[in-house]
Amino acid sequence: MTDLVVRKMNFAFEDHEVPFLWNPQNPAFSSMANAVSFLAIGFEKMIVNMILQAKPVITDAAVAEEAEAFMRQEGQHSTAHRQHVKGLIRHYPGLQETLDEVIGAFDELTRDTSLEYRLAYTADLEATFTPVFKLMLDNEAALFRPGDDRVASLFIWHFVEEVEHRSSALIIFDSVVGSDIYRMRQAPSIFKHVLDVIKIASEGFNKHVPLEERKVDAMAMFARYRRVQKLRTWIPGLEPANNGPMLRAFDDLPLREQLVALGGVVRSQMPRHNPAHEKLPALAGEWFARYDAGYDVQRWYTADATLS
Ligand SMILES: [Fe+2]
Ligand SMILES: [Fe+2]
Repeated sequence: MTDLVVRKMNFAFEDHEVPFLWNPQNPAFSSMANAVSFLAIGFEKMIVNMILQAKPVITDAAVAEEAEAFMRQEGQHSTAHRQHVKGLIRHYPGLQETLDEVIGAFDELTRDTSLEYRLAYTADLEATFTPVFKLMLDNEAALFRPGDDRVASLFIWHFVEEVEHRSSALIIFDSVVGSDIYRMRQAPSIFKHVLDVIKIASEGFNKHVPLEERKVDAMAMFARYRRVQKLRTWIPGLEPANNGPMLRAFDDLPLREQLVALGGVVRSQMPRHNPAHEKLPALAGEWFARYDAGYDVQRWYTADATLS
């Protein structure tokens, strides 16, 4: 039996301003998280289609139940991110074009790649989430707390549920495909696609959101881009693109924790990796306890704490 709980959220983005720079203390993290919102819509749409397609070939009842709950959680994430991105598009209508491109990149996968490939894609990418989101949630005081509460609460909820269903995609992949070698062989093309999509979003931010409001070169998260920009300052006649400060989201986080997360990402791609054994962020446990106690997790930092 699956332990997953499908929780419906409403962050009321239509009633509130949705700032692009939602954590003014960290423009690079604001931009990166916004890119995750765009990616989530396309990726989770692909997941829903993929599970619907996989269902007839899942023979194990427990796996079928896990797949259903996993799909429904991802469907909720997608809905919430759509509302978030809709709020951004209200201010910056050009971002509609960016959203269409991001969704298009995942629709292409649904159309042009096999079910096995998409199951591997989902298993590989989701396996990286627990170590990466642990780094973020362990540093909530710097990354989320100073930000807009609704946007912060959206990401905290999503990342906590990604930790909750950290084993689902691998369970489904193992049941339908069951080949670590296949999964590992596809990893380079899978992660190239992920980075390409984040690049589409980041280029869209540079293009459609004025620098005075985003306060960062959204492409600065890419090492290669940073290198090229540096190179351009040295070559006579070439100027670096003036897209803003080359800030990085995790610069202020403890280096040791960043290295642990990196190690976790590498480990997540190894054969026989079992996400169930991962170290979990303390905030995830606290979040589930507060949710069960009736606390308004849609306003994580500002809701009435007496309920918890
Ligand atoms: Fe998700
Ligand atoms: Fe997920």
